[in-house]
Amino acid sequence: MKKKTNFVCNNCGSISPKWMGKCSECGKWNTFEEELIIRTKGVVTKTQSPVKIKDVDIVEEKRDKIGIEEFDRTLGGGIVKGSLILVGGEPGIGKSTLLMQLANNMSSKNKKVLYITGEESALQLKLRAERLNVEGENLYILAENILENIIPVIDKIKPNYIIIDSVQTVSTNQISSPQGTVSQIKEVTSELMKISKTQNIATFIIGHVTKTGSIAGPKLLEHIVDTVLYFEGDSETPYRILRAVKNRFGSSNEIGIFEMTSFGLEEIKNPSIIFLSSQTLGKPGAVILPTMEGTRPILVEIQSLVSKTNFSMPRRVSVGLDFNKLNMIIAVIEKQLGFNLFYYDIYVNCVGGLTLNEPGVTLSMLVSILSSYLNKPIKEDMVVFGEVGLLGEIRSVNNISKRLLEAKRLGYKFAIGPMVNIKIEGIKIYEVKNIKEVFEILFK
Ligand code: TYD
Ligand code: MG
Repeated sequence: MKKKTNFVCNNCGSISPKWMGKCSECGKWNTFEEELIIRTKGVVTKTQSPVKIKDVDIVEEKRDKIGIEEFDRTLGGGIVKGSLILVGGEPGIGKSTLLMQLANNMSSKNKKVLYITGEESALQLKLRAERLNVEGENLYILAENILENIIPVIDKIKPNYIIIDSVQTVSTNQISSPQGTVSQIKEVTSELMKISKTQNIATFIIGHVTKTGSIAGPKLLEHIVDTVLYFEGDSETPYRILRAVKNRFGSSNEIGIFEMTSFGLEEIKNPSIIFLSSQTLGKPGAVILPTMEGTRPILVEIQSLVSKTNFSMPRRVSVGLDFNKLNMIIAVIEKQLGFNLFYYDIYVNCVGGLTLNEPGVTLSMLVSILSSYLNKPIKEDMVVFGEVGLLGEIRSVNNISKRLLEAKRLGYKFAIGPMVNIKIEGIKIYEVKNIKEVFEILFK
């Protein structure tokens, strides 16, 4: 029996023989915890023999549709057989609800689903299921948190899908550290990986994300699993975003949008509406951007507030938009258009809680800042998009037609951006090559 103690960062999982106040890998403070690791046994599952690569059969990656369109799209078109999917999110955001709805859908398609909960009792699960109108004949629940007790149940039931709620509450007897520690959640996840690959069971693992870092987070499992989804949202609003951040079987920038209702999560198939705030239209600083989230165009509102500063260093704040992009845009405005913004605080915000990383937001940010600074509103029925370069040039972005069609569908009549020979009936398009042209059109 091997015995060893290590100090492990519960944020990134890096291991050190000594305790450290600050993790040298991820830079977080106070995340090191002592873990005594005693390996009592080797691995439990069967060993595999190697096969020649030429003998590996090519099988079409088979996907099962969940029937929740927002979820299917986020996964890249459904669940891939035998894949391991991590669903992370803060407590209370709706992870158990989402996966109970998935379990219900799959079991009503004659697939066997095993829902394992280490968090709640079978009765609590049943109460949630009642609320969600779950009636699946093939949905099994198991309240258990020792992996060695779970494995025989999997062997007996032979489910098509497994849901583990949550990985932080399941532990294996193979190592001695308490449940929820880095070594435990890593070991449990890799055992589940083996089970799901060898028995071709798609497995969903729920992982809690905590702000305080009191328990080890799902971040350190990201490299083990096939797909990583995060379920996010502002607890003040009922809207929830399911975001793929890693996907071995699909694009990793898809999102699915839901609303938490008293009957569970409902899909929002027309998301543009929730990211636009109707009261601010036509006010200085408000700009509508047709952005792309994965394969889908969404209209969002970008707001800026530019006001005289009371500080020796002006304040610059961005919410949902990249801070470096904000600083760059301010520099471009100063250099290329000759305004001096040093004596102004500048706040920019993306309405509705989305975080936008695509390059196409920069022209909207620029127009929004100018609109607030000059106190001149942008037309209510105009959309603005494009990437601003350091020399004030406007570069093209992807999916221009898709963006414009979404704008048209929602009743917008004007668009300004890097359009090249694109015509859409019903929308007047201003094709611009640099920010001076934008300034002429919008503010002169
Ligand atoms: P839950 O799925 O338990 O969150 P998590 O597993 O991420 O911790 O649900 C979170 C919240 O959602 C809970 O406060 C109750 C609420 N809720 C509804 O509003 N409607 C519903 O139908 C259900 C099942 C839950
Ligand atoms: Mg839960």
